[in-house]
Amino acid sequence: MICRFLVCLLLLSCQILLAFALTDSGDVAALNSIKSSWKNLPPNWKGADPCGNNWDGINCTNTRVTSIMLAGQLLEGSTFSDISSLTGLVELDLSNNIGLKAILPPSIQNLKNLTTLVLIGCSFFGPIPDSIGSLPRLVYLSLNSNSFTGPIPASIGNLLQLSWLDLGMNKLNGTIPISSNTAPAGLDKLLLAKHFHLSNNQLFGEIPEKLFRPDMTLIHAIFDNNKLNGAIPSSIGTVQTLEVIRFDWNSLEGPLPPSISNLTKLQELYLSNNNFSGNIPDLTGLDLLFYVDMSNNSFNASQVPEWFSSLQSLTTLMMENTKLQGPIPVDMFRLPQLETVKLSNNNLNGSLDIGNSYSSNLTVDLQNNSVTGFQQQANYTLDITLADNPICNGNGATEAFCSVAKVDSSPLPSSRCRAVSCGRDEVLSPNCQCSHPYTGILHFFSFSFSDLQNLTYYNILHGTLMSQFRARGIPVDSLNLTNPTINMYSYLEITLQVFPSGKDVFDRTSVSTIGFVLNRQPFPVDYFGPFFFIDEQYCCLSGPKKSSNVGIIVGVAIGGSFLVLLIFLAGMYALRQKRRAKEAIDKSNPFASWDPEKESGAVPQLQGAKWFSFEDLKKCTDNFSESNCVGSGGYGKVYKGSVGSEQVVAIKRAQQGSMQGAVEFKTEIELMSRIHHKNVVGLVGFCYEQGEQMLVYEYISNGTLRDCVTGKSGFRLDWNKRLRIALDAARGLSYLHELASPPIIHRDVKSTNILLDNNLNAKVADFGLSKLLGDTGKGYVTTQVKGTLGYMDPEYYMTQQLTDKSDVYSFGVVLLELMTARAPIQNGKHIVRLVHEAMGDSKDPQSLDEVIDPTLGSASKLSGIWRFVELAMSCVREAAAERPSMGEVVREIENIMEMAVPPNKQMHHHTFVETADDESPLRSYGAAETESEGFDVSYGSFPFHVHRQ
Ligand SMILES: *[C@@H]1O[C@H](CO)[C@@H](O)[C@H](O)[C@H]1NC(C)=O
Ligand SMILES: *[C@@H]1O[C@H](CO)[C@@H](O)[C@H](O)[C@H]1NC(C)=O
Ligand SMILES: *[C@@H]1O[C@H](CO)[C@@H](O)[C@H](O)[C@H]1NC(C)=O
Ligand SMILES: *[C@@H]1O[C@H](CO)[C@@H](O)[C@H](O)[C@H]1NC(C)=O
Ligand SMILES: *[C@@H]1O[C@H](CO)[C@@H](O)[C@H](O)[C@H]1NC(C)=O
Repeated sequence: MICRFLVCLLLLSCQILLAFALTDSGDVAALNSIKSSWKNLPPNWKGADPCGNNWDGINCTNTRVTSIMLAGQLLEGSTFSDISSLTGLVELDLSNNIGLKAILPPSIQNLKNLTTLVLIGCSFFGPIPDSIGSLPRLVYLSLNSNSFTGPIPASIGNLLQLSWLDLGMNKLNGTIPISSNTAPAGLDKLLLAKHFHLSNNQLFGEIPEKLFRPDMTLIHAIFDNNKLNGAIPSSIGTVQTLEVIRFDWNSLEGPLPPSISNLTKLQELYLSNNNFSGNIPDLTGLDLLFYVDMSNNSFNASQVPEWFSSLQSLTTLMMENTKLQGPIPVDMFRLPQLETVKLSNNNLNGSLDIGNSYSSNLTVDLQNNSVTGFQQQANYTLDITLADNPICNGNGATEAFCSVAKVDSSPLPSSRCRAVSCGRDEVLSPNCQCSHPYTGILHFFSFSFSDLQNLTYYNILHGTLMSQFRARGIPVDSLNLTNPTINMYSYLEITLQVFPSGKDVFDRTSVSTIGFVLNRQPFPVDYFGPFFFIDEQYCCLSGPKKSSNVGIIVGVAIGGSFLVLLIFLAGMYALRQKRRAKEAIDKSNPFASWDPEKESGAVPQLQGAKWFSFEDLKKCTDNFSESNCVGSGGYGKVYKGSVGSEQVVAIKRAQQGSMQGAVEFKTEIELMSRIHHKNVVGLVGFCYEQGEQMLVYEYISNGTLRDCVTGKSGFRLDWNKRLRIALDAARGLSYLHELASPPIIHRDVKSTNILLDNNLNAKVADFGLSKLLGDTGKGYVTTQVKGTLGYMDPEYYMTQQLTDKSDVYSFGVVLLELMTARAPIQNGKHIVRLVHEAMGDSKDPQSLDEVIDPTLGSASKLSGIWRFVELAMSCVREAAAERPSMGEVVREIENIMEMAVPPNKQMHHHTFVETADDESPLRSYGAAETESEGFDVSYGSFPFHVHRQ
């Protein structure tokens, strides 16, 4: 009886609960499914009622989930389909979750109410599904900075409400889709679109005449860094709303259409690095034009165009290498706004006269012309470079204007706080508080200025961002804008640090709201074009870290506006002191703004890489004693030491003569600090002090693969372990090629650059020779072929075209080494030839017995050996194009390993195994195997070798 009563009560209360649950049951199921398949979701995703319980990042209308805002939450996941079940969704922002590695499934079309889809800076891959064209309400679509491949679906042309289309920074190929009789959809149908951002893909073919129509409302046509060819269609002149055009870094040709001069709203015109021919068009009347870059084209030889002196808004004229000849008109320096005139590598001659009315902030670059004289040498004040002109060839060569401008430091003073030392991971805010800022880089597709020292611009940006954050109620104390640079794609990058107010960390909602504000960008900023924001993974989502001196305020509490004024005045003063500090920022000491000792406190959160003082490192290596030296090479020595709380590190100390330039060193650190993968040796930090350059890496205890394979390190690797090592190393390389941002070519893959930790996990080391994989596809023409004999890709050697396939070749050699234990070149014979000859035509594993490492036993007993050798041989094919990609190599090794796993241990296999996926079943199998064999960790005393040719 009592029992029945209790059951009744229970049922009743369940019903009551159900009656009060606010969330649609389908949505609850979908969210729970996401919860079980994604990692790092907010900890308050608990209970059965997401809307009622205010799950972080979820907003509801009535019972339906209508918005998901989870930008910058370090989410990891490999499927998107559960999102497609949340059919009430209106807004979805998952940007800056690099651990989301999934395809966009066709089922995304279920999200019929979606207006906003922001997936910037994740790792989505595969094609953009055609069904994306079935989201009739979509206004804002940004898939920037992912790894999408394949063509732009023409169906996007069905999104008639679309205002913002950003597909930039992906690997899309194919032509620009337009409508036709047979295909009714195309980008030409997007009459409400204001933004086409298609930069940095592999789009090819001509820009269709039909793409541009007078009834469009396009303001930004951004197509740079693709492989487009043909001419710019004349129809572009009919889109009267256009403000920014970027066609630079393509293979466009032919004359520029005169209709461009009809675009009276045009502010920025980027046409550099194409093959345009014909005459330079007359841009008279484009009175809003700020920025023109036509450098590196094949125009007809001409004089400096006269229209140039009539453009009253112009800040920047870039006409490098455009066959300009004749005298330099004095009028050109009179424009009041002018900041930069770059006319280097032309044929300008005569005597330079700059007149006496020019902006005091003007920079003029006339390097490599035929200028023979310079009037007013005595009292000119502008920055001018005449190096490589006849005037500088004679006795005048010591004149200031004959040297290439030297530059001292970053223009943006970050704070004037009295010296305060913050906790190790903390940063001093402009308001003199130590806290954990949310940090990342703003990437501007376009900008209307070139004087990166001019604080006016940053104050405008600062003000706009601050008021946007405040309007959204985010507790922001202050912002820091530092390190403005123009990157290799001619984008302006500015590092943004957002400091929390009240607490020393931001909560999850604040982080995602900041991300949304920045990447959804509902606001324009004067002088700055559209941008996207890529964050550094935020340190502190899982709650506040213990921190020493939170909220120290030094001196009087200064009112915000007064502080801004103070900073501004200080900046002006600094600028006066540094007249010549322009253009090429931070050449002499790029670390000035990083230095914790130099009161600015703006040590960057380099994604974990720390700044070490010389004293720190000296102490932890016992004054760089010989006993701590664990390796050496041409660059210097490697020391073992421990830093912080017992972390063992390998410190690579450059010796005199092998130091890099400061800028190169900084670039290398920035690059390496972004690399985080368990199969790549991680950078822990660096030291740049007292004339020393040191890189601090995690210490890898078991030495090099070479030593292990040859038995030099004292233990033997069985076949399964070799397969696993091959897989690890392949994953590390595949990460560098396909997932690192920007992608990286290692350039020196070899068995001594693959290190083994004490669980025999392989890690790829030493990308001292690495190059960014910039211009994807076209190959990277290097000036100097580098690499190691025996591992070097013959095609790269001959053509100097470096591609990721060069690493694949070297990796193929490593695979052969792994199975034969022979050096790549032994007794004058290359390992590739040796194995090839042994293989013969038989397809019989036994034929490999003469080359296989004798400690492995007979080849016919090694499961998958034939597929393995075929894989290795495909990697070393002569033609780079016929070699597999590292991603394909990873998948094939996984397949081979499944064959090698005894059937009873065989496990379910993901269709899309991704390289950084810790949960990969194969991976856990490998680990279990190591443990079950009781692998002796005491082997972990082998020296850390870093060899560098
Ligand atoms: C969520 O909904 C609340 C109340 O309707 C609203 O104030 C808030 O701005 C919404 N948040 C987001 C991120 O849309
Ligand atoms: C889509 O939005 C409309 C109103 O804008 C609403 O009536 C409808 O129920 C929504 N659809 C879904 C599936 O939530
Ligand atoms: C486009 O890219 C896809 C996937 O990356 C590739 O399979 C295809 O061959 C490429 N198409 C062209 C024409 O290059
Ligand atoms: C500029 O526009 C006018 C009127 O809209 C048109 O008549 C003229 O042909 C255009 N000029 C060029 C060069 O396309
Ligand atoms: C020159 O630079 C200073 C400081 O950035 C700025 O305040 C000033 O307006 C600039 N002058 C001109 C003419 O642009």
